[in-house]
Amino acid sequence: MTSDLLSELRAAIGEGAVLTDPTDMAAYVTDWTGSFTGSALAVVRPASTAEVAAAVRLCAEAGVGVVPQGGNTGLVGGGVPDPDGSQVVLSLGRMRRVREVDPVADTLVVEAGTPLATVQEAAAAAGRLFPLSLGSEGSCTIGGTIATNAGGTAVLRYGMMRELVLGLKVVLPDGRVWDGLRPLRKDNTGYDLKQLFIGSEGTLGVVTAAVLRLLPATPRRATALVALDSVEAATTLLPLLRKHGGGQLTTWELLGRQAVDLVLTHLPALRDPFSQRHEWYGLVELAGTSTDVDERLETALEAAASQGLLLDAVVAGSPAQRESLCALREGVSEAQKSEGATLKHDITVPIRALPRFVAEVGPTLLAALPGLRLVTYGHVGDGNLHYNLSAPVGDDAALRRAAPTLTRMIYEAVTVLGGSISAEHGIGALKRDAAAAYKTGVEIDLLRAVKQAIDPDGVMNPRKLFPVREASRS
Ligand code: FAD
Ligand code: MLT
Ligand code: ZN
Repeated sequence: MTSDLLSELRAAIGEGAVLTDPTDMAAYVTDWTGSFTGSALAVVRPASTAEVAAAVRLCAEAGVGVVPQGGNTGLVGGGVPDPDGSQVVLSLGRMRRVREVDPVADTLVVEAGTPLATVQEAAAAAGRLFPLSLGSEGSCTIGGTIATNAGGTAVLRYGMMRELVLGLKVVLPDGRVWDGLRPLRKDNTGYDLKQLFIGSEGTLGVVTAAVLRLLPATPRRATALVALDSVEAATTLLPLLRKHGGGQLTTWELLGRQAVDLVLTHLPALRDPFSQRHEWYGLVELAGTSTDVDERLETALEAAASQGLLLDAVVAGSPAQRESLCALREGVSEAQKSEGATLKHDITVPIRALPRFVAEVGPTLLAALPGLRLVTYGHVGDGNLHYNLSAPVGDDAALRRAAPTLTRMIYEAVTVLGGSISAEHGIGALKRDAAAAYKTGVEIDLLRAVKQAIDPDGVMNPRKLFPVREASRS
């Protein structure tokens, strides 16, 4: 049966596009964090929508689950197969073409396996902006950012991926193709089908191409790193930055002391721009077309200082200085990975409640596991913190033992404050069992109904997003 499927896949998409050697498959079966390692029946690498459709149809007929994969930078174990070796990984890595940039419609048509950075560059070459911006942008793909509804550091101004997609082409779980690759800004003809696939984490179909929105380029950037005494200072500053930013405020990110220390330890090329140590830092950026952004940033910082909200500030005086300041923020994931065991939490609460969340949860976690390192940072302007925990120095096992308790404490605090346990990374395998406990019965019924309607046989990304008992395929 298995060998029949492999022969049919080879016949449909080519001998060299079906990998079965464990060495060739290694990079596709372990996730970026190193926490999830699976095993695959095969890794298939189609080069067109027709080949994706053929591969999915053959897997569906054989009763084999399909795990779509883009750049494999996801942080919740959603893009790697289960350990039992029964699933096929479908990598979009060969579908990486920007097909068209339309300066009249202000749109770009792209294949799903194209890296995000390539799309940013294509937009820039046309004098436009594609604003989604993530630390992983050199590797993550358009299909992956659509499937996870990715966020990043410019959501404050431009929204998440959901707001940047106009059309999609999707291979459905039975191998049929839904061609919704339209550049229309207005289309009120019933349910907005594309939105179902955005954020569905590969559980409803394989995105093979997208039409994306382009925005006016913002070549002039004014960037500063500010030192703060509390998370409350960061949330209090937000309306002030908005007021003075005049619509050009793009980024407002938070960095806690432990996060900065990890970056300075593991990325030695980077330097602390301040002579004194501080507990909290904010990275602010305004982007536009003229020096207006510099003037606005200066006015905002002066206003903040006069209200006692700033301890210190460093304004980037050149593109290289801007890069260094941004690298302090973008380097945290990489630096924390080098530090040993990490328990990632990607939480959101209403912005006003962020200071209370940090003040109340931290001490309870430290009481449960003395020596735990709270690596707190993230998209404070969106009310989204990466509340990532690092093990007490030299004791990874302690973090692994305490993980369920610490996770429950965090999720309960988030729930009490009216937040969500996943702001931007998704559910995947990491949070699939816990997530159901934080949804209402009505929400779970609706989610199940959508899955059942589009993928009744459970072909797409089995055992992700929904608790294990929900999956009907291996
Ligand atoms: P993968 O990891 O390959 O897959 C992710 C999920 O999407 C899986 O469930 C997979 O099955 C599904 N999928 C992939 N491609 C398709 C497709 N074509 N069709 C259907 N389903 C598909 N995320 C943020 O939101 N904001 C951040 O700021 C951010 N920063 C990051 C920084 C670093 C250093 C790293 C390593 C990750 C970061 N991430 C961030 C997480 C990650 O980059 C995003 O989730 C990204 O969208 C994943 O894209 P990918 O192509 O790597 O997808
Ligand atoms: C980021 O914003 O840097 C990532 O989404 C956070 C993470 O790696 O946990
Ligand atoms: Zn993030």
